[in-house]
Amino acid sequence: MKIQPNDTPLLEWAGDCLAIGLFEDAVDLTGELATLNERLAGILKELIAEEEFTAKAYNTIFTRVGVGNPIRKVILVGLGKPEALKLETLRRAAAAVARVAKKQKSKSLAFSFPLWNNDPAATAQAIAEGTQLALYQDTRFKSEPEDKGPQIETVDLLGFSGQEAAITRANQIVSGVILARQLVAAPANEVTPITLAETAQAIATDHGLNIEILEREDCEKLGMGAFLGVAQASDLPPKFIHLTYKPEGTPKRKLAIIGKGLTFDSGGLNIKGAGSGIETMKIDMGGAAATLGAAKAIAQLKPDVEVHFISAATENMISGHAMHPGDILKASNGKTIEVNNTDAEGRLTLADALVYADKLGVDAIVDLATLTGACVIALGDDIAGLYTPDDAVASQLEQAAETAGEKMWRMPMEEKYFEGLKSGIADMKNTGPRPGGSITAALFLKQFVKNTPWAHLDIAGPVWADKENGYNSPGATGYGVRSLVNWVLGE
Ligand code: BES
Ligand code: MN
Ligand code: ZN
Repeated sequence: MKIQPNDTPLLEWAGDCLAIGLFEDAVDLTGELATLNERLAGILKELIAEEEFTAKAYNTIFTRVGVGNPIRKVILVGLGKPEALKLETLRRAAAAVARVAKKQKSKSLAFSFPLWNNDPAATAQAIAEGTQLALYQDTRFKSEPEDKGPQIETVDLLGFSGQEAAITRANQIVSGVILARQLVAAPANEVTPITLAETAQAIATDHGLNIEILEREDCEKLGMGAFLGVAQASDLPPKFIHLTYKPEGTPKRKLAIIGKGLTFDSGGLNIKGAGSGIETMKIDMGGAAATLGAAKAIAQLKPDVEVHFISAATENMISGHAMHPGDILKASNGKTIEVNNTDAEGRLTLADALVYADKLGVDAIVDLATLTGACVIALGDDIAGLYTPDDAVASQLEQAAETAGEKMWRMPMEEKYFEGLKSGIADMKNTGPRPGGSITAALFLKQFVKNTPWAHLDIAGPVWADKENGYNSPGATGYGVRSLVNWVLGE
């Protein structure tokens, strides 16, 4: 699919589907749209009246226009109230249009959309993102494609001449989101610590990033007892992945992104029981997927920022060498942890990854993790929890997420709740009481960061969509990649 600017006037464009974005106050059609309506023998006004179309955001209606017209179909999509227009509105409206156009077997599609904030670059980028994210289909595990219909081949952005760079940027970001979706969607017999490391290696090779993969012995030398404790029951070797993007000149900032990389979480000896969703636990590397997706995008975008991409990848399994509930592990900062629940494994792997990142001398660290069911209970499926003692990093991330259209909500780091992690025998336990379970998880992580501003994103909810939602189809969402990219770019 090729997305391109095209300055053909609306009234002269020829192709399968012309999509027009309409505000709630403009359904009476004026100017060019009135002319188009006349040319189409009043069909647009008739359609609007018949369907009682009020241009509420993302509502779409469409019609076949008479034979002999240069266009085959017109799609009208609502954009809501003009004063409420956000980039995300355009992204989702583009997704709604793309889905209709695909279903209508269009090969060519044109968008006639208004500008957001007088910013043609941001607008073109959002339309290009929404279109591609909505149309992406994962057919890797089907022996035959179910969708044999025609694919959309060209997408013209009418009135966006000169915005090639914005479209390229969208393509680069989307390539990272799709990588993250593919990594999360692939089952645990496909995405293992080994293949995750290979994926990181491939990004490094393709885009000229530095890569270091620490093997079990390297991690032992660094004293990563918390990570290795989780890894010890698996038949697969753990891989500590460290990818680095360095800009050509002196970096403006240095950042680290860490992703929880549990390629499968059985729970360990505190095994996940019936109804626990154990069969979905391939998604437990969603943080690592977002990290590698961001790496792929950033390697192409080439900002003036040094970025470290880190994941302590392993499985949480059961076997004769599994951690016993009650075992005491020592992390690489010397702190001891009583593992009162082997299913709270993500924080153990992150502990050593945070200690490692804290020593890199970066300006800030963000970790992403499918860490707790408690966060999903608190914020639902669409919203990530943001936990940080640092107001500056919090507002950078909130801004980045707003621009990306990814939802996150700041949660309290209530220090008093650390009491729930007090251990009689070690420095701390890994699991607190059920109430406030996502907060104690964040407070646990905080013990492993000493020198660097840090934020934690619990993405257990938004990593996966059960239903179609905007440009997300049911399945892996690639959540986090776009916010991370904006954060690194400072947007
Ligand atoms: N990977 C899970 C969290 C999770 C739950 C992710 C649902 C996605 C969807 C994590 O390792 C886990 O098992 N957390 C436990 C922690 C508990 C033992 C303190 C949980 O949330 O129940
Ligand atoms: Mn677990
Ligand atoms: Zn887990």
